[in-house]
Amino acid sequence: MILGIIGLGRMGFGMSQRLLNHNHKVVAYNRSTDKVRAISKKGAIPSSSIPELISKLPSKKIIWLMLPAGKPTDQTIKTLIPLLSNGDIIIDGANDFYKNAEAHSKLCSKKGIHFFDIGVSGGTHGLKNGYTLMIGGPKQQFKYIEPTCKSLAPKGGYGYFGPTGSGHYVKSVHNIIEYVYLQGIAEGIELLDKKNINLKKAVSVWQPASVIKSWLLDLTSHALSKSDFNKIAPKIGSVTIQELNKTINSIPSHYTPAFDVATRVRKSKSGFILGKRTIAAIRNEFGGHAIEKGGKK
Ligand SMILES: NC(=O)c1ccc[n+]([C@@H]2O[C@H](COP(=O)([O-])OP(=O)(O)OC[C@H]3O[C@@H](n4cnc5c(N)ncnc54)[C@H](OP(=O)(O)O)[C@@H]3O)[C@@H](O)[C@H]2O)c1
Repeated sequence: MILGIIGLGRMGFGMSQRLLNHNHKVVAYNRSTDKVRAISKKGAIPSSSIPELISKLPSKKIIWLMLPAGKPTDQTIKTLIPLLSNGDIIIDGANDFYKNAEAHSKLCSKKGIHFFDIGVSGGTHGLKNGYTLMIGGPKQQFKYIEPTCKSLAPKGGYGYFGPTGSGHYVKSVHNIIEYVYLQGIAEGIELLDKKNINLKKAVSVWQPASVIKSWLLDLTSHALSKSDFNKIAPKIGSVTIQELNKTINSIPSHYTPAFDVATRVRKSKSGFILGKRTIAAIRNEFGGHAIEKGGKK
């Protein structure tokens, strides 16, 4: 298959590479040109503008956006619409609010363009392990993008969940669970430390077969074994909190006490230093999310 990818960040670059490894053709565009050059060295067809990317795709064009949610994604969709034709497909892989997908789909449909919202999980490890895909959009069109999804995902790791918005919705729920898991691990690390228990040892004993064994625990173990773990500042990036809160608040009589506490702790300016450091370190392990130096115990 051939498709266009816009956004060659930590996710889009790895996804392009995985598709190339699975014998797809990728036409790539990114705001900064260095990443376009880098992916073209791996076999992608480079483009220096969005119109150029469109011109290099055959009809029934498929374009996958891997950009930050909000303005960058919104503006790019609005740039694409006049350049595309009836039957073409736009896929949005950002961590966006599901109702934005509904709005984007409406805009696209005025020109007969089909819109898919696909939540992506797996972080920077997706290149090797596969990217989990949570898919929403027009069911009759899914067959056109399924070969791409199959190559990106690990075996059994993609699913079509229903009409537009379903993909972003399922991904938001995934991220809410992720917040709660990370808060749980962070609280455990804090409690172990209060009794001077060896953190690395406790985590490594839990890894092989305990009921809390998990990839996040494996990543915790990896983060703790780094010599500069204690230098990580207790600051946790929070770009997705707004989108997640919008999702939660759109559901009548929702009940999410654990997530509410997890977000409050992330935003708090003081206390829970080791716990916050642990969350920042794990996020860096799975998603390459930035960490700052300068933490004290
Ligand atoms: N990292 C993860 O673990 C992860 C996992 C699942 C989903 N996601 C989601 O995937 C999307 C991409 O994440 P990422 O981690 O790949 O981010 P990233 O590494 O920060 O890359 C962002 C990409 O978007 C481009 N970009 C940023 N602002 C732009 C703008 N105003 N106009 C045009 N292009 C712009 C950047 O271009 P430049 O190179 O020019 O800066 C870069 O290619 C986000 O929606 C994120 O929430 C991330």
